[in-house]
Amino acid sequence: MRAAVFDSGIGGLTVVKSLVEHKLFDEIIYYGDTARVPYGPKDKNTIIRYSLEALEFFKNFDVDMLITACNSVSAHAIEELREVAPFPVVGVIEPGVLALEKKLLDKKSNILIIGTKATIESQKYQTLLHQRGYTNLIAKATPLFVPIVEEEIFDGEILEATMHHYFRDLSPHAVILGCTHFPLIANQISNYFNSKALLIHSGEAIVDHLENNYQIKSSQKEPILKLFASENPEKLKRVAAKWLSV
Ligand code: DGL
Repeated sequence: MRAAVFDSGIGGLTVVKSLVEHKLFDEIIYYGDTARVPYGPKDKNTIIRYSLEALEFFKNFDVDMLITACNSVSAHAIEELREVAPFPVVGVIEPGVLALEKKLLDKKSNILIIGTKATIESQKYQTLLHQRGYTNLIAKATPLFVPIVEEEIFDGEILEATMHHYFRDLSPHAVILGCTHFPLIANQISNYFNSKALLIHSGEAIVDHLENNYQIKSSQKEPILKLFASENPEKLKRVAAKWLSV
């Protein structure tokens, strides 16, 4: 099976990492819209337009499925993509909520949802969590983490100060990493909360979702990974080599 994976930039590589580790596909075609990242501050219509353009790109390949490894796209453009895509389109939000539900049984737990402005303002996580009975939600746009990760800053003073800026006074039982850039700083976020918070990662959640709902099983083979970017593909390849050891 051949999967297309789309993100606004390099962050979706965290989802690819999980897909590669679980060997769910024979081939993965990744497209990062690095020329126009970030999507998080953009409005719904722009995110839809960019996403439909990415879909056009994938039509050059005979893919079996599109994974939107971007929460901002999953929050705003999934229905529009599904309307026109000739293959299934899977987003990261529903899998994230299902992953949380599997692990967090107490519906009164304090849940912190972090993501881009676009993701948080879409209310998608909040609505799905409310529907499943979770009542104590704090949703916070944390867009500064995106350029920090894009700059490949994964620890140190800048990250500590930014976490303090967003997280002081919070002590959640669980944190939904509602942005595919954030797993790269997951350890630091976990440490900030003294390792007491359960962290939900889009990549791990989607692997579970694909196995359970699309009956996709491990092929036992290393998938072939093809990387494309709308700008500076060398950077994407360099970062992929570092994060994914490919
Ligand atoms: N990868 C995007 C997401 O998961 C965040 C980066 C952006 O703002 O484009 O929402």
